[in-house]
Amino acid sequence: MANTLETEVARRRTFAIISHPDAGKTTLTEKLLLFGGAIQLAGEVKAKKNRTQSRSDWMKIERERGISVVTSVMTFEYGGNIYNLLDTPGHEDFADDTYRTLTAVDSAIMVIDAARGIEPRTLKLFEVCRLRDIPIITFVNKMDRESRDPFEILDEVEEKLALDTAPVTWPIGRARTFAGTHHLAQNAVRRADTEVERTPVNGPEAESAAGLLPENEREAFIEEVNLAREACRPFDREAYLEGHLTPVFFGSALRNYGVRDLIDALAAHAPRPRAQEADTRRVEASEPGMTAFVFKIQANMDPNHRDRIAFARVCSGTLSRGMKAKLVRTGKAVTLSAPQFFFAHQRQTADSAYAGDVVGIPNHGTLRIGDTLTDGEALVFRGVPNFAPEILRRVRLMDAMKGKKLSEALGQMAEEGVVQLFIPEDGSPSIVGVVGALQLDVLKARLEAEYALPVDFETARFSVCRWISSDDRAALEGFLAKHRSAIARDLDGDPVFLAENGFSLNYEAERAPAITFEAVKDYQ
Ligand code: G4P
Repeated sequence: MANTLETEVARRRTFAIISHPDAGKTTLTEKLLLFGGAIQLAGEVKAKKNRTQSRSDWMKIERERGISVVTSVMTFEYGGNIYNLLDTPGHEDFADDTYRTLTAVDSAIMVIDAARGIEPRTLKLFEVCRLRDIPIITFVNKMDRESRDPFEILDEVEEKLALDTAPVTWPIGRARTFAGTHHLAQNAVRRADTEVERTPVNGPEAESAAGLLPENEREAFIEEVNLAREACRPFDREAYLEGHLTPVFFGSALRNYGVRDLIDALAAHAPRPRAQEADTRRVEASEPGMTAFVFKIQANMDPNHRDRIAFARVCSGTLSRGMKAKLVRTGKAVTLSAPQFFFAHQRQTADSAYAGDVVGIPNHGTLRIGDTLTDGEALVFRGVPNFAPEILRRVRLMDAMKGKKLSEALGQMAEEGVVQLFIPEDGSPSIVGVVGALQLDVLKARLEAEYALPVDFETARFSVCRWISSDDRAALEGFLAKHRSAIARDLDGDPVFLAENGFSLNYEAERAPAITFEAVKDYQ
């Protein structure tokens, strides 16, 4: 039994793709899934996106704005390994969703457009990965187009991200002459992903390397490869796992160059499911006891069923169908009667899931983001973050008679992580908080479509909020009493301080040194 568990854990790779919109994340996802045989035809991922959009009303927003709002997981098997690819929304207004998803992966692939280099969102997402020590493999995409000089791209990664680079492959040609990649350490060439094995060569000058290029480009290519070998760092797995170095691959997802390299690199080098920190102890992935945490809730994945799915990452043990798990927040048991795996275009009931796997648990509001499930032990995983919203609004109901229904609906939306909800202590109407304005559009559309509640938003008197706490209970009580009209409670009942602006926040914070004001809160 222990042996099976160890084997299952060792063959799992749970990862995300981070990139700036348009760099090629969707195309790469599609090509990776093709390797796993998870989809038959290229184009399926996009086709699916569209189909889903047309099926669901509130997703009209997504269609109108041409963005992907939904985070999902795709599982595929290749070469004996199981890959769990967690997708993240491309639009920055849903950044908090992306950050939560990144808490559930063990590594990431960073896709860079070869012509554009490091773009703002790549940088932002990279910083989140760095905070969590997530190792990164870099893919320089679109080499079949006009691109920057590869050395320049490597320099930019080193400078902008303060991350060492180790080019593993080198592009043979660029744009129209791009003909494949040369593996620097193995001294071998692969023309396209259809070639399973690389062809060994004596050096870059070989007929099956430089010989693939027009005469006038050969010399430059040979020089580049020699220079890359002399001047660039070799790949160092330890440094990669510690997040200090990124192996770099060149290719073209669209034309099937370099994707095989990525999947091979994930298999050979990417970390297997890592140990996770809980409040009481560190949980190792191959421990027998089942533990998992919820990092995402998604409603209406299939509008025909009006279901709500909690995405849970298994951290240890075996999550099996039908088991009774303990929901640590409430102490109650939850029966996992139909946990699901997600493939590119279908769901399948999961009989057993192991560390690294992400299962969807259908439920009617029992599970929240940040919840820990175990097979009995009372421990709570830390680190699924909740960010202080940057936009605060009061919700104005068109039909004043439906106040109670609105409270319920807002509570559910907050549990799903669509918005954050703050209930003012002085009894004034609820305040919703979001990180990006599009989240408000989603809230409005869903309240109308799913609850028949047309609403509008009004600017609140407040624009900043912080979670407050103190070791000095009396000081906290005193602060709460004194600022009652600026105190609200979040979904967990924890107090937040609402301020009109950053200036007044600082002013109050300086006058209350015993109180801690926090912009990030871990779900628990
Ligand atoms: P994203 O998910 O990161 O936003 O990017 P996506 O894969 O949708 O790719 C953005 C555009 O870049 C698409 O073109 C896609 O076909 C193109 N692309 C992706 N990888 C490559 C590549 O390796 N080489 C070249 N030349 N193009 C690539 P589009 O015209 O915006 O969309 P579509 O109409 O082709 O779907």
